[in-house]
Amino acid sequence: MSESETASQNRKFEIEFEPVGRRAVTGAGSTLLSAAQEVGVQLVAVCGGIGICGSCRVRCMEGSLAPTEPEEEVEFTAEELSDGWRLACRARALSDVKLDIPSTSLATAQRLQLEGATTSDSSEPSVTAYQVEVEPPGLYDLRPDWERVEAALFQEQVMPRASSVHVVQHVCDRMREMSWKGRVIVRGERGAEEIVTVLPTDVPMLGLAFDIGTTKIAGYLVDLDTLQTVSRAGVVNPQIAFGEDVVSRIACANRERRLETQLRSRLAEALNELARQLTTGSGNAATRVVDAVVVGNTAMHHFFAGLSVRQLGEAPYVPVTCSSLSEPARDLGLDLSPGTTVYLPPNIAGYVGSDHVSALLAGDILSREGRVVVLDIGTNTEISLKIADRLISCSCASGPAFEGAHIQDGMRALPGAIEHVRLSGGALHVQTVDSDRPVGICGSGILDVVASMLEAGIIDRRGRFYATHPRVRSRDGELEFLLVPAEAAGHGRDIVVTSKDVVEIQLAKGAVRAGIEILCSTAGIKSSEIDTLVVAGAFGTYLDAKSAMTVGMFPRLSEDRIEQIGNAAGTGAIRMLCSASERRKAQLIAERAEYVELTTHPDFADVFTDRLFFELVRNQGVDSDARTRDVSGANARAAATDQRPSTEMQ
Ligand code: FES
Repeated sequence: MSESETASQNRKFEIEFEPVGRRAVTGAGSTLLSAAQEVGVQLVAVCGGIGICGSCRVRCMEGSLAPTEPEEEVEFTAEELSDGWRLACRARALSDVKLDIPSTSLATAQRLQLEGATTSDSSEPSVTAYQVEVEPPGLYDLRPDWERVEAALFQEQVMPRASSVHVVQHVCDRMREMSWKGRVIVRGERGAEEIVTVLPTDVPMLGLAFDIGTTKIAGYLVDLDTLQTVSRAGVVNPQIAFGEDVVSRIACANRERRLETQLRSRLAEALNELARQLTTGSGNAATRVVDAVVVGNTAMHHFFAGLSVRQLGEAPYVPVTCSSLSEPARDLGLDLSPGTTVYLPPNIAGYVGSDHVSALLAGDILSREGRVVVLDIGTNTEISLKIADRLISCSCASGPAFEGAHIQDGMRALPGAIEHVRLSGGALHVQTVDSDRPVGICGSGILDVVASMLEAGIIDRRGRFYATHPRVRSRDGELEFLLVPAEAAGHGRDIVVTSKDVVEIQLAKGAVRAGIEILCSTAGIKSSEIDTLVVAGAFGTYLDAKSAMTVGMFPRLSEDRIEQIGNAAGTGAIRMLCSASERRKAQLIAERAEYVELTTHPDFADVFTDRLFFELVRNQGVDSDARTRDVSGANARAAATDQRPSTEMQ
């Protein structure tokens, strides 16, 4: 082999696997499949990697790969190949590469937190059903079909309008198919009703509530006759292939019109897929869905609504609109009943969206007494403080560390992800998702590790390692903590926490805490005076509140002042689906909110810098075994952690 060939064989590239959130460093000669296996990303490889089964399909989003091999030309059409589709067992990297793995190619599905209250007490749906039976046309009754339906509804004191010609055609076709009997669904105020669709007489009206997160999309199918949630499901937001966080997706959309279109259509496709899963899984059809509510952060809201996201990427980050919207489902790319509209609740600001409004609604923020903080921790963390009649909100860039990104062995909450860690009496216990052998660390796990290291004196307040601990070692001049040795790991490699990982957690927790402190100082209180801290969202469900207090992300509060309420944004969306009065409450929340912009706040930089340091909470009056209280009725955290056993690491 020539010198230059040897040099090119020795080159190393970084392969990023989305939506898993893992990265591998691989040599030029390795296949993408072996790079995935190296870091515990479980791609399906039915044929064992010989290129004949097509089960390891991946899509290259960024970077370049070696030319296609014959097996790939058999597997894919020319269009698919030009779209970046490849077989992971055949393709090799020629540069750093970012891959999108479709769910069909993943052996394990990502855990998607959907728990939360899933029934609604309020009964005031925006749609109403009327059983109608009309006379069929005959030689002596030549009225058009539509007028027959209208006449039947007049008898019920309903003065209906058709929302569109599609609805007229659909309703008339269906009435003929159903022998002129059916449940006509209308929406709107008395005297100004619009016909949505007609269903068979014994079929329930269905509604869909979606919570579009930056990483995950949660969907809930609700029977609008009984107001019960029939089924729920989640998918990874496919936009993740275009960028991990909202900012990079906005930048991507702003770069090229083609990419902006793809970002929008991938979102609509995911919602349609979720609607199909939810309806067919419960023996229904998506065309029976007669109402829908969609919540999301402001960027997701704008992508979905077809609004420009350009200005969300440029200071002063002002949205196109914060107003609530009701748009025909078909205009938003959703394949539901022809007359269905989608309600999008109001946003508060460019980085505090309708998902936070929805979480505040689910947390009954307007009716709570005392000083209440609600926070939803993610790449971007939204925080609100309710005190007397004031509702003050802000958003802080907490970064992707809690999603496992920018952490050396970080990953999302897939099977094998270390989600809880305890270091007691020198013994280290780890608990993984699905109790699989550990392959990486997800957000709640990394928070626990840092808290444990702090309590054990392995790191100091500044996050610096003490070199004397037996698990601390030096590699390439950097200190790291050995969490799981190679022989106990699922992929046969050490799992470590580096000093850089600790810095990432300091940045993330510092941003969250600084947001809480700024809101408290705006209201003239100390954070220790918070009566109730309500933690919403997926990461908030799985995190250990004691660890969050140990690292200083949360202020020191006693256990009965912390509530973890699961996916509150989803719960709020369900409430708005079931009740028009809940939509009015959401409107009131958004109108009441005073938005505080942290990036220009005069104290933010100082408070943030101060909060980068750790503080110990041991021996400071906090119950050392603090458990969390659940108010949603869903016992979200207990269900989430499922009391799985932990494993002691030697
Ligand atoms: Fe079968 Fe790649 S593993 S084609």
